[in-house]
Amino acid sequence: MEIRKISMKDAEQISRMRRLNGVREGILAVTSERIDVTTNFINSLSECDRALAAVENGEVAGMAVILKNKCFSRRHSAKLAVMVSPYFQEKGVGTALIKKIIQEADEIMGLKRIELLVLTDNVPALKLYKKFGFQIEATRRNAAVKEGKFVDEYFMARINKKETQ
Ligand SMILES: CC(C)(COP(=O)(O)OP(=O)(O)OC[C@H]1O[C@@H](n2cnc3c(N)ncnc32)[C@H](O)[C@@H]1OP(=O)(O)O)[C@@H](O)C(=O)NCCC(=O)NCCS
Repeated sequence: MEIRKISMKDAEQISRMRRLNGVREGILAVTSERIDVTTNFINSLSECDRALAAVENGEVAGMAVILKNKCFSRRHSAKLAVMVSPYFQEKGVGTALIKKIIQEADEIMGLKRIELLVLTDNVPALKLYKKFGFQIEATRRNAAVKEGKFVDEYFMARINKKETQ
């Protein structure tokens, strides 16, 4: 499996993945979501951000993204998101993506802090993030609506312990 930068050519596959059962619930997307959401997102990526796709035989199996904070005082931190297509889940794709993007965050982007939001019932994502040193910093109660019910969300972060600055 190849891990490479995302390009606009991936938009259709990424948009389809976002709407699939087994992905949509975790990222709070909707079945009616239009492709513009994905094309606008890819267009909005800057040189400071990282967006990686895991690709198997031309098929996008998953993606991970790190969006660097633009605010001057927060430029050492970024937001992370990841998703893997249901067919490829539980096969180590999420692990490979997070490993690679965190390595880039630490070694190339020089980030001190990576943060994310995850629904408290998202067991696979919690396992994945904890494996890479993310810790729960807060619980956002009733932060989202899933299947008609309010659900809680964890605010998690990982600190790069290596001396940077
Ligand atoms: C979260 C997600 C990215 C994990 O991707 P993945 O490729 O399945 O992850 P991996 O195969 O690398 O597994 C990572 C860990 O989670 C565990 N895991 C994966 N799926 C699991 C499941 N359904 N139930 C329990 N544990 C699971 C694995 O065992 C592994 O732990 P281990 O290394 O201790 O054995 C994937 O489930 C997904 O895309 N979910 C929908 C989108 C989403 O929720 N994204 C996160 C938003 S915050």
